[in-house]
Amino acid sequence: MPEFPPVAAPRSAVGAPLPHDSAARHVAGAAAYIDDLDEPAGTLHVAPGWCREVTRGRLLKVDLDAVRAHPGVVAVLTAADVPAVNDCSPSIGGDPVFAESEIQFWGQVVFAVVATSRASARAAARLAVFEVEAEKPAITVFDALDRGSDVLPPYEFRKGDAGAAIAAAPCRFADGLAIGGQEHFYLEGQIAFAHPREGDEILVLSSTQHPTEIQHVVARVLGLSDAAIVCECRRMGGGFGGKESQATQWAVIAALAARITGRSVKLRLDRDDDMVMTGKRHDFRVDWRVGTDETGRILGVDVDFLARCGASADLSQGVVDRTMFHADNAYDYPAARIATRRLLTDTVSATAFRGFGGPQGMLFAERMIDAVALRLGRDPLDVRKANFYPSVDAANHGVTPYGQVVDDCVLPDLVAALEQSSDYRARVAAIDAFNASSPILRRGIALTPIKFGISFTLTHLNQAGALVNVYSDGSVTVNHGGTEMGQGLYVKVAQVVAEVFAIPVAQVRITATTTGKVPNTAPTAASSGSDLNGMAAQIAAEEIRDRMAVVVAHLLGGEPRAVTFAGGRARLGDRDLSFADVARQCTLARVSLSATGFYSTPDITWDRAEAHGRPFYYYAYGAACSEVVIDTLTGEMRVLRVDILHDVGRSLNPAIDLGQIEGGFVQGLGWLTTEELVWDSRGRLRTHAPSTYKIPTAFDVPADFRVALWEDGGNRVASVHRSKAVGEPPVMLAISVHSAILRAIASLAPGVVPPLEAPATPEAILAAVRAVKHPVEGAPA
Ligand code: MTE
Ligand code: MOS
Repeated sequence: MPEFPPVAAPRSAVGAPLPHDSAARHVAGAAAYIDDLDEPAGTLHVAPGWCREVTRGRLLKVDLDAVRAHPGVVAVLTAADVPAVNDCSPSIGGDPVFAESEIQFWGQVVFAVVATSRASARAAARLAVFEVEAEKPAITVFDALDRGSDVLPPYEFRKGDAGAAIAAAPCRFADGLAIGGQEHFYLEGQIAFAHPREGDEILVLSSTQHPTEIQHVVARVLGLSDAAIVCECRRMGGGFGGKESQATQWAVIAALAARITGRSVKLRLDRDDDMVMTGKRHDFRVDWRVGTDETGRILGVDVDFLARCGASADLSQGVVDRTMFHADNAYDYPAARIATRRLLTDTVSATAFRGFGGPQGMLFAERMIDAVALRLGRDPLDVRKANFYPSVDAANHGVTPYGQVVDDCVLPDLVAALEQSSDYRARVAAIDAFNASSPILRRGIALTPIKFGISFTLTHLNQAGALVNVYSDGSVTVNHGGTEMGQGLYVKVAQVVAEVFAIPVAQVRITATTTGKVPNTAPTAASSGSDLNGMAAQIAAEEIRDRMAVVVAHLLGGEPRAVTFAGGRARLGDRDLSFADVARQCTLARVSLSATGFYSTPDITWDRAEAHGRPFYYYAYGAACSEVVIDTLTGEMRVLRVDILHDVGRSLNPAIDLGQIEGGFVQGLGWLTTEELVWDSRGRLRTHAPSTYKIPTAFDVPADFRVALWEDGGNRVASVHRSKAVGEPPVMLAISVHSAILRAIASLAPGVVPPLEAPATPEAILAAVRAVKHPVEGAPA
C-alpha cells in the first residue's frame, strides 16, 4: 500500500479548481460523442421493433415479410439469429435480447431491423404484424401483490425488537407514502456503434458506464471469447445510472448485426423509444410505524417498502438493498425492522439511478421525522437533531440496522453550521409571521441532512485498474476503468497522476476508457469512480516515479529515496533534472516507463445472509436548507432559496465538486417536484417525451442558491488524498424541498400531516392542500 499524505500536505495539481477537461469542447461542439464520429463507408443502421398493442401476452407469430421487403432493409434479426445466449442481463438473467415466446412489458424488443439508413430501419420496424394472446398485465405493486409475483425474495434488516419498542413507546404514529420513479433523460440517448475487425473480433463503441459488462455480454450472446471483443467509451452525454446495465442490449444488437452483416453498424435509439424501452428509477409504496418519546426521540421503527422492479431482476437486488441501507438516513434507531418486497410487474425493468435506491429510503426517513414533528408540534429540525447518530468524537458511536458502526458522523457540527449560515431560526419565525397573514400563498422551510454510504455493496465490485505511460519527452497518458459521463472523473484522475509526478495537469493526457487497456473493471457507479480509479492511477504513477528515482539517483549520485519531485523537476541535493530529461534518461537506461496499478477498497465486509457487516468504507454527509412558497389555490410552487453545506472530504477539485452538488441537487429537485411518470392501466408509458415529462430547466434552478463545501478534517479513512465521493449524495439534498413543501401545506392545519406524495407536482400539492383543509369524516388523521 502507498503512503497516504497527511491531511495538511501541500498539493499543487490535486485540490485545484480546474474546469472539466472537455468543458470548452462541450460548448464548442468539439467533444465527440459516438453519433459525431465518422461512419465507415457502408455503415448500416439498426432500429428495434416491438409490439405497440400488447403489454403482456404469449407471442404466437410475428410476420416480418413487409419489414424485410421495405426499401433499404438489409437484415431483420430475431431471437433465432442469436448464436449463443439470448440474454443480456447484468445479474440473474431474464432479459432476453429479443423476446421469444412471450411479451413481458410495453416496449420490449422483439426484433431489429438493419438497414442502409436509420430512417429506413425505423419505418420498416413499424411494418411487423404480431399475433399475440394478450394477458392481463400487472402494472402496479398492488397488482403484483395480488398476483403474488416477486422478482427477488423478500429481504429485511432487524435491530432489536421494533414491534415491542413501538408498543411500549409513549407516542405512536403510522402512515404511508408513494414515491415516484424517474427517467434518466441523459442528453445523449442510448447509442452503440459496432465495427467488425479481423476474424471474429469486434470493436464496440458504446455510451456505457460499464464497458467491461458490454464486452462480456456481447461475447456471451455471440458465443465468442471475451478477448475477441473490445468495448470503448470516450465519454457519455450523461448516464445517471441509466447506462450502468441498460446500455448493454443496444450494444449487443449492434454487435450481432455487425457480426451477421460484416459491416459497421450503428444503433441510436430514438428519444421516445429510449424512454419507453429503458428502465427508470424504482418507484415505491412505503408503509411505516414509529414509536417515540414526547420529544420526538425515536424508540422503534417498522417499515415496509414495496418496490416496483419491472419485468426482470436487472440491478434490483443492489438498488433495493441500498434503499434499506438508507432507511435510517442520519438517524440512530434504537430498534428497527426494515423490510422489502421486490415486485415483478409487467413494466420495463427498473434500474440504477443516481443514488441507487438510497433516495427513496431517505425520503421515507425524512417524511417520518416530519410526521413526528408535526404531530408533536415541535420544530422538525429539533426532532432531526435529537435523533442524529452521535458525532465522530462522541464517546459511543451508533450502529446501523445492518451492523455498521457510524464512527465518522460529522452531522451534528455540519448541521449546526448550516443552521447558522442559513439563518434557519429567524427565517422560521419570519415564515410563521408571513403565513399568519397570507391565506393563499404559504411558505415553508426545511433543513434536512444526508448520510450516504460509499462503496458498492456487492463487495467484489470495489476494485479498479489503471495504466500509466510516460513517453520519453515527459508527456503522460493515463487510462483506467472509470468512464466519463460529465462528472469530471477524468480530470480528477489526471490531477492525481500530475500530483505524483509534480507536473502540470495539462501534461497528462486523458484517453478513452477501453477494455483493451484495463480489463475486468467495475461499472462507474456508486459514486466510487474517483475513489477507485484515482487510487489505481496513483499506485501506477508512484511505481513509475520510484523507478525514475533510481535512475536520477544513479545519474546525480545519491540515494533514490532522497530524490524529490516538485515543480516539474526531479531534485537530488543541489542538482536537478527536468521531468522530460528524467523520462529520456530512463529510456536510455532501459527502464520501463509504463505501469499498471490495481486498487481494492480495504476493510469492507458484507454478509448479506446475516444482514451484517461494514458494507461502506465511509459515509458522505451533507445538509440543505430550502425555502419554498406554494399557491394553495393552484398548487404551484417556487423554491425561494437553498443553502447547502456538503461534505466532500478534502476536495480533489472544488470546481467539479460544486458542479456535482448543484447538478445533483437540481436533478433531485426534478425527481421530487416535476418529473412524473405515468403508466396507463394497460401499462403504456404515457410520458415518453419531453412534451409530457418535465425535467428541471434553468428556470427551476433556485434563484438564491448558496452552496459551500464542508472540508473539515478531510476523510477519516485513507481514501485518495482524503477526498470523498460526490457523484450521487447531493441528489438527496433535494429532499429538503419536499419537506419544505410539506411544512408549507401543514401550516394550513396545525397537527395534521399532509398526505403529500412524491413527486410534489402542482396536482399532488393541491390534493394534499384539499385533504388538510377538508378532512374526510372518519379518515385517519
Ligand atoms: N454527473 C454528470 N454530469 N453526469 C452523469 O451521468 N452520473 C451520476 C454522478 N454524476 C452523472 C453525474 C452517477 S449516477 C454516479 S454513480 C456518479 O456520477 C458516477 O461517477 P463517479 O463515481 O466518478 O462520481
Ligand atoms: Mo450511479 S446510479 O451508481 O450509476
